[in-house]
Amino acid sequence: PPNLQLVEEDLGLERVNCRAKGASSGFKVAILGAAGGIGQPLAMLMKMNPLVSLLHLYDVVNAPGVTADISHMDTSAVVRGFLGQQQLEDALIGMDLVIIPAGVPRKPGMTRDDLFNINAGIVKTLCEAIAKCCPKAIVNIISNPVNSTVPIAAEVFKKAGVFDPKRVLGVTMLDVVRANTFVAEIMGLDPREVDVPVVGGHAGVTILPLLSQVKPSCSFTQKEIDYLTDRIQNGGTEVVEAKAGAGSATLSMAYAAVKFADACLRALRGDAAVVHCAYVASEVTELPFFASKVRLGRNGVEEIYPLGPLNEYERAGLEKAKKELAGSIQKGVSFVKK
Ligand code: NAI
Repeated sequence: PPNLQLVEEDLGLERVNCRAKGASSGFKVAILGAAGGIGQPLAMLMKMNPLVSLLHLYDVVNAPGVTADISHMDTSAVVRGFLGQQQLEDALIGMDLVIIPAGVPRKPGMTRDDLFNINAGIVKTLCEAIAKCCPKAIVNIISNPVNSTVPIAAEVFKKAGVFDPKRVLGVTMLDVVRANTFVAEIMGLDPREVDVPVVGGHAGVTILPLLSQVKPSCSFTQKEIDYLTDRIQNGGTEVVEAKAGAGSATLSMAYAAVKFADACLRALRGDAAVVHCAYVASEVTELPFFASKVRLGRNGVEEIYPLGPLNEYERAGLEKAKKELAGSIQKGVSFVKK
């Protein structure tokens, strides 16, 4: 495609650089895995975000095609494409926010943990480059199993001496988005007005919706609680089965990823009271990582909120979640340490 470098040569560097400079008041965002099922709609939505001045799209396949396509959108962000490992570092230098949806998705019958063998290595390699090129960037990890890939990222950053627990966030926003939608559906509410805290992690029983804390306050029957908990925990599988081998959630995930990335950028800008659930290094439980509500600020996670009062059903769910999470965290940590 007529990429920016060629245009720069044709028109004279100054003119094109003007545009890049003019845009420098916004944030620089990289998407790693930008040509994938999530990556493409995510790239499109980030190109529409007025807080983004520079959008780097990296993948091991098809990055130039996606970049050419997205770059024709008449929004202000400048888009550049990067293809293959040899261009990874260039994709990362100077980035404020790096979003990682790289890796294989589930097929019917698979758990998220079945993806570990492939995705662990991908996330490790990408984080090694982040540690080298933009160690101060906020990192949003989407690649599954999130319960293990976030600990992997943390270990890689520790090894490189640049780990900042405030800056590494596992994206669990899709669980919240689903929970808001399903609760709104059965209560006859507008989903935009519903806020369901979803804590724990991002796989099966580790996805723990706190239905006793839903806003606006709702009272559910036990039957409704069972239905909602099961549907929220298995929302991903519902999509995997409906797609019947063609992948997992991509469009709703891109929506959720952008909702979360936009929150990170608003917080970086200095907005107050930006609070969302995310899977982060945490002391909320005895586990080293846990998803709960966090307040985002200029440095990433500024405050982690306690879980609040849980009912008996939620306390039982929490015990189950912690048991599974402990194993997934350990698996991620050992992968980097071995
Ligand atoms: P996909 O297969 O459509 O796309 C993945 C992309 O990653 C491909 O373009 C591929 O070329 C790229 N890729 C592979 N190795 C790479 C590397 N070393 N560097 C850069 N890019 C690389 O998969 P999809 O559907 O986009 O899913 C991506 C990941 O997101 C999966 O692991 C999936 O399980 C996860 N996911 C996470 C969710 C969450 O809530 N956190 C929800 C849905 C999916």
